[in-house]
Amino acid sequence: MKRMIVVGLLLTSFGCTLSSTKPAPLPKDDFLVIAHRGASAYAPEHTLAAYDMAVQMGADYIELDIQLTKDGKLVTFHDDSVSLHNRDWPVATITFDELQLYSPGEEFNEDNPHYASVAYEELRVIGLDEVLQYFGSTINYYIEIKSPDAYPGIEAKLLHKLQAHGLLDTASDMPKVIIQSFDGDSLKKVFDREPTIPLIQLFAFDKGESLSKKALRELTTYASGIGVEAKVVTKKFVTSMHKAGLDVHPFTINDEKTMRTLMAHGIDGLFTDRPDIAVQLRNEISRASH
Ligand code: G3P
Ligand code: CA
Repeated sequence: MKRMIVVGLLLTSFGCTLSSTKPAPLPKDDFLVIAHRGASAYAPEHTLAAYDMAVQMGADYIELDIQLTKDGKLVTFHDDSVSLHNRDWPVATITFDELQLYSPGEEFNEDNPHYASVAYEELRVIGLDEVLQYFGSTINYYIEIKSPDAYPGIEAKLLHKLQAHGLLDTASDMPKVIIQSFDGDSLKKVFDREPTIPLIQLFAFDKGESLSKKALRELTTYASGIGVEAKVVTKKFVTSMHKAGLDVHPFTINDEKTMRTLMAHGIDGLFTDRPDIAVQLRNEISRASH
């Protein structure tokens, strides 16, 4: 017994734990096109219209930012707060019904006259439930836990929802669900409960910034990959992440030239508002290599 304690202490002091659970694998040979907030260049973000369009365009994943309303409903919505009655309201302080006063379609039409549609004005913020009910297991979900500090218990609630929709025990080449967050503690909570879900740690690095060896070691105890802004991605960066066993999914790339450059650097997937461009490019590159 004494000997086991000594071995445990030694391993811990070298940064190892006795846990043998490894982060879930990501697809080895598939380049992932992740539709950022849906096909959000062409339709109002985080609406069924944008998600549907992304699926039609052949995206591998739709990306969803999730938050919790005051009355405990998981919603797919990016901004921390919403402007209603000339005031900004944090999502956590308003109910789902109150959030319905916001029109993502009106904002989209104003910002994107080229893609505007009167039909978009009818669209409202939707719950994660509605999305999962609508698509079920026909598509793959890349979910971001936003500001988890504002929503204690959001991880358990999310996992419960995914389980209820039968998305956690499916066997397929591509994971049905990938979860991402800028908050490592939140990801660790998911890992402790459901290590079969691949986790992506997001970072807001400046150009040239990367992770220390110690931080990398810690990260690889729970994460399968990292998400960083496109500007920090170099060949050297990608190689060092791959060496550590981490996939690299940069965000958010909407022009073909940058997509080509980063693909040549060896990235494993990318977030884009224009999944049609990324799918076309991915297919072109794949055809050329066969
Ligand atoms: O998940 C990658 C990217 O979506 C993170 O940034 O602000 O678009 O959620 P944001
Ligand atoms: Ca996001």
